[in-house]
Amino acid sequence: MSTFWSVTVTVVVLLNILACVWLLIWTSKKQPGEVAEGAEKDHVWDGDLRELNNPLPRWWLHTFILSIVFALGYLVAYPGLGNFPGLLGWSQHKQHDERLAEVQEQRQSFYAQFEGKSVTELAGDPAARSFGSELYSIQCAGCHGVNAQGAVGFPNLRDDVWIWGGDAQAIHTTIAKGRQAVMPQFYATLDQETVPALIEYVRNWDNADLRGERLALAQQTFQRNCMACHGPDGQGNPLMGAPNLRNGEWLYGGSEEAVRQSILFGRNGNMPAFGNALSALDIDLLAAYVLGLNEGGAE
Ligand code: HEC
Ligand code: HEC
Repeated sequence: MSTFWSVTVTVVVLLNILACVWLLIWTSKKQPGEVAEGAEKDHVWDGDLRELNNPLPRWWLHTFILSIVFALGYLVAYPGLGNFPGLLGWSQHKQHDERLAEVQEQRQSFYAQFEGKSVTELAGDPAARSFGSELYSIQCAGCHGVNAQGAVGFPNLRDDVWIWGGDAQAIHTTIAKGRQAVMPQFYATLDQETVPALIEYVRNWDNADLRGERLALAQQTFQRNCMACHGPDGQGNPLMGAPNLRNGEWLYGGSEEAVRQSILFGRNGNMPAFGNALSALDIDLLAAYVLGLNEGGAE
């Protein structure tokens, strides 16, 4: 506050209190029984009601005086008069800092029980999993769903199908460093005859109705264009985040249309990195929660 405002506020506050004192003194000078100013002398209504200058009830007067004394005491003790800090040294900032320190201390002692434990150990600890699930709700549920059941483009974290690996280490890396999947688009490289055969091959694998030349075409195309990432048998490769194409689980859907979309236009799923946003322990707890989900652990 500038000096100008400080002085203005101080003067206005003190004038207000002074006005209250003046009001008390002024009213105390009125004679009891005197007819009130502006009231008509003989005006009586409802039988016996008249407007007179009668004194305030005692208790009311005393409360009034007490509140004036209290106000002055308060302004001496606490900040209220412009920039004057008050004799007690209380301030909102100080109170805020003290509360914050208190909360941080509680937080630290809460986290202490998890300190130094591995992700696998934490996954076996119900308290850690339960806290992990709270972190999950805040950080992850928006994409992976409230029950970690996933959605199109967002993997289910409850089943035992993993794109990037499902052991403690892999899950931890996924959360800390994030993952960027790159499925290239084959819009320009595959011709109109090849694509339908390839789609059928990839969707039905062993039971595809493909025979003879079309089967050979599909197999050949797969080996040339897809095997490097999805593996010779389409079983996927966690190092590249290339999903298994023959387990019946689809990240983007297994319909003919969805698979065509994946092949022709590519897919670029991105799992954001949390390593900078969260503490190392929070990431351990999240990894433990996800691992616990998969091992049939608790919520
Ligand atoms: C450079 C590596 C790479 C190549 C080559 C590649 N893919 Fe992929 N593919 C991926 C990755 C990575 C994903 C996962 C994309 C994502 O998660 O966003 C993927 C996803 C897919 C999907 C969607 C899977 C699902 O679960 O929904 C299909 C279908 C697919 N690929 C088929 C193919 C076919 C067919 C070919 C060959 C024509 C091919 N891919 C070539 C890396 C590759
Ligand atoms: C902005 C959306 C988004 C948020 C937020 C997000 N994820 Fe993901 N996550 C994804 C996507 C998309 C993928 C799949 C990447 C790909 O296509 O391969 C993924 C993949 C994963 C995987 C790998 C699954 C597998 O099958 O290998 C794990 C584990 C995972 N996320 C956990 C988490 C956790 C834990 C959090 C919260 C800290 C989180 N995610 C927050 C979008 C998100």
